[in-house]
Amino acid sequence: AGFLPFEHAPYFDFTDPGVAQAQKDAFALVRSRHVGRTFPLLIGGEAVNGAGTFAVSNPGDTREQVWHFQNATSEQLEQAVQAAQNAFQSWQVSDPLQRATVFMRAAQLLRARRMEFNAVMVLENGKNWAEADGEVAECVDHFEVFARETLKWAQGKPVYPMPDEHVTTVYEPIGVVAVISPWNFPAAIPLGMALGAIAAGNTVVWKPASETPLSSYLMVELLFQAGLPRDVIQFLTGGDDVLGDPLVDHAGIRMIAFTGSREIGCRIYERAAKVQPGQKWLKRVMAEMGGKDATVVCADSDLDAAAAGIAQAAFGYAGQKCSACSRAIVEDSVYDVVLSKVKAHAEAMVVGLPESNAATGPVIHGGSLERILKFVEDGRKSATLVTGGEKPEGELHGAYFSPTIFGDVQPADPLFQQEIFGPVLTFTRARDWRHALDLANDSAYGLTGSFYSRDPQKISEARRLFHVGNLYINRKCTGALSGTHAFGGYGMSGTNAKVGGPDYLFWFLQTKTVAQRY
Ligand code: SER
Repeated sequence: AGFLPFEHAPYFDFTDPGVAQAQKDAFALVRSRHVGRTFPLLIGGEAVNGAGTFAVSNPGDTREQVWHFQNATSEQLEQAVQAAQNAFQSWQVSDPLQRATVFMRAAQLLRARRMEFNAVMVLENGKNWAEADGEVAECVDHFEVFARETLKWAQGKPVYPMPDEHVTTVYEPIGVVAVISPWNFPAAIPLGMALGAIAAGNTVVWKPASETPLSSYLMVELLFQAGLPRDVIQFLTGGDDVLGDPLVDHAGIRMIAFTGSREIGCRIYERAAKVQPGQKWLKRVMAEMGGKDATVVCADSDLDAAAAGIAQAAFGYAGQKCSACSRAIVEDSVYDVVLSKVKAHAEAMVVGLPESNAATGPVIHGGSLERILKFVEDGRKSATLVTGGEKPEGELHGAYFSPTIFGDVQPADPLFQQEIFGPVLTFTRARDWRHALDLANDSAYGLTGSFYSRDPQKISEARRLFHVGNLYINRKCTGALSGTHAFGGYGMSGTNAKVGGPDYLFWFLQTKTVAQRY
């Protein structure tokens, strides 16, 4: 539709000293432009204060408070839903070309400010430069992809014709979408869900994770700068007592788009099923939850590539991705050699300050570390600790934990079954490659998986039998690209909405059939 051919936004090469210097300069910019500021709520196009504020701290050095955000009140939640409903009256009939143009403009604006957005994310979320850059690049891709998807879905779809009726199938927006997002991808995840809503002609109440609100806020501001009417998104920060259940339960909410933990996702799914007084629809729920993602290594595969892929997917960003590899399942004959290769990678990874671009950084906060430690303590009794299992040495002020590997992990072990969300990897021995695939599928989750082999026969079986929404052959299981690797899982990984995929907008639309006789 008149756009240039699509290309994924390339990543910065931080090994280039000029590029690295530009990223360092961006930290100085963020420290002068954003650190110490207090950011507002955004309701009906107005910036407003809540009832007091909360501080956001830098997970890399928790002694530093970087910025403050508002605690929204229950009245402000009411106002936000009302404002989103009012805005829906006009936004639902907006021109799809207008929506697509706003997204294309936002992509342009973001390209110019990527280093700044990277720095904000490093400071509030604890990603290193490359991880932050990957996510901000994904946001550029999201804008470009959703611009194109907007126009695609605006065209409706052809139906089998009738001789005496003119029949069309068209897609219409549904109403107010609550977007509830996690801290681990604080920009790309809420943006993907919000763009789905807005592209479809819906309006949004956006509730980011309290750990990482600025990466979200900047995306909202960017959309407004790109020309999105300011009442289309309401941005609310604050406590779950005010913005959790009450937002999900609200009779004015038409759909909840959630990404986060399995526990909260299931809670939302259940609560949204109850029809509230005055509610005139059945709420739709998109719930994208966790993973317990496995990498299967066949004896015939490139073992160096497999070991590198496992280490990167397990320990990059301290394993805090739903897509992270948390289980390596290796054929018996190569188990010891693959384990020793991955161990070498793990031990070579520098754990340190995200702002200094260490290979891997802290987990998000002390509460998360405590949870991880409990798994590790139990694991010391049920499996063999191969490396890690402790806090790294050095002057670090945060919830740092060394890359940790357990060997001889049995399928019934909680280490093998439960999502740990930290830098903890299990190794399990398989009798043969089919057994490895069975072990990989022995999970309530089904988000991502990797399969390493050179044998076309094995690969074709794995393509069919590996029970995951995102299967990667001979590559790592993290790093899905918008528009190409539609992302979302099977089983308890959630509703399989497939963000960035060709059918994602369908989630945010309802279908109208019109049959006309002349
Ligand atoms: N999309 C991310 C990845 O593929 C996870 O949310 O790693």
